[in-house]
Amino acid sequence: MGKIALLYGGDSAERDISLKSGRAVYQAMQRLKLNVDLIDTQDSFVQQLAQAGYQKAFIALHGRGGEDGQIQGLLEYLKIPFTGSGVLGSALAMDKIRSKQIWLSCGLSTAGYCQIMAGDVTKCGQIIEQLGNQLFVKPAHEGSSIGMSRVHNQQQLVQAIELAGQYDSSILVERFIDGPEYTVAILDGVALPVIRMQAAGEFYDYQAKYESNTTQYHCPCGLSAEEEARVQALAVAAYQALDASGWGRVDVMRDADGQFYLLEANTVPGMTEKSLVPMAAAAAGISFDELVGKILQTAER
Ligand SMILES: Nc1ncnc2c1ncn2[C@@H]1O[C@H](COP(=O)(O)OP(=O)(O)OP(=O)(O)O)[C@@H](O)[C@H]1O
Ligand SMILES: [Mg+2]
Repeated sequence: MGKIALLYGGDSAERDISLKSGRAVYQAMQRLKLNVDLIDTQDSFVQQLAQAGYQKAFIALHGRGGEDGQIQGLLEYLKIPFTGSGVLGSALAMDKIRSKQIWLSCGLSTAGYCQIMAGDVTKCGQIIEQLGNQLFVKPAHEGSSIGMSRVHNQQQLVQAIELAGQYDSSILVERFIDGPEYTVAILDGVALPVIRMQAAGEFYDYQAKYESNTTQYHCPCGLSAEEEARVQALAVAAYQALDASGWGRVDVMRDADGQFYLLEANTVPGMTEKSLVPMAAAAAGISFDELVGKILQTAER
């Protein structure tokens, strides 16, 4: 096989996680004896990509710039096959509000919500009337729980909108789902075993994701075989509806009414040895190195 460009780092709010994902994938590629250049897209890299004759690119970038269609468009233009979703799927999945609009139009279940613009706290009363006062507020285009908060009343809603507005001009206010949360890893159109995440704090925040050692991960996830198959089918349908492909991860919660609700899709999920997709792959008997090889194969479309 020819030379591989492994793209990591970048300058999104999730840079630190991408550095870890990239290093873990790089080490796997070295064990697989692949010819790979590790490229931090925070430095100037376009000329190198255009001229070094890469056969494929492995995208290990999270967040804006790397997971939202920008890098995908560049690679398409340069005719370098790349891992994971194309421009459209990447852009749609990065936008939590447009993802929900598409899911709702396809009859796929996701929690009630409204969109507001940063700084617009005048509608808080109206939002609470419409959705209730148990809410969850997120920047529309962020990952890793950055800028997100749980809300119990109007005063907290104002604060949550101010926090989310530091990261994005578009803000998603969603009905709070009171129940367990799951993630479904998808590899080449097929769902891997479902994982249930259980954070010790109020929700699965940045600290619970990357720093805490009290967060619990359950795989098998505790659902019946029939329920697990239902969540897997929901996740695969949600991923396809966004035109996302190759590999990725869909996050889902289950409300007290027993129904599953789609939260969001990740087209370049974390790839550290401790990340969720490698964990689901391991449950399916796929080692980290094998997983890296299979993701690389998704660049052959
Ligand atoms: N509507 C909701 N009700 C209750 N909790 C929620 C809701 N939306 C999100 N959460 C909590 O916030 C966390 C982060 O939300 P979400 O998965 O939408 O964002 P993210 O930061 O983009 O995730 P990732 O790091 O997986 O990219 C969830 O894992 C969950 O714990
Ligand atoms: Mg998530």
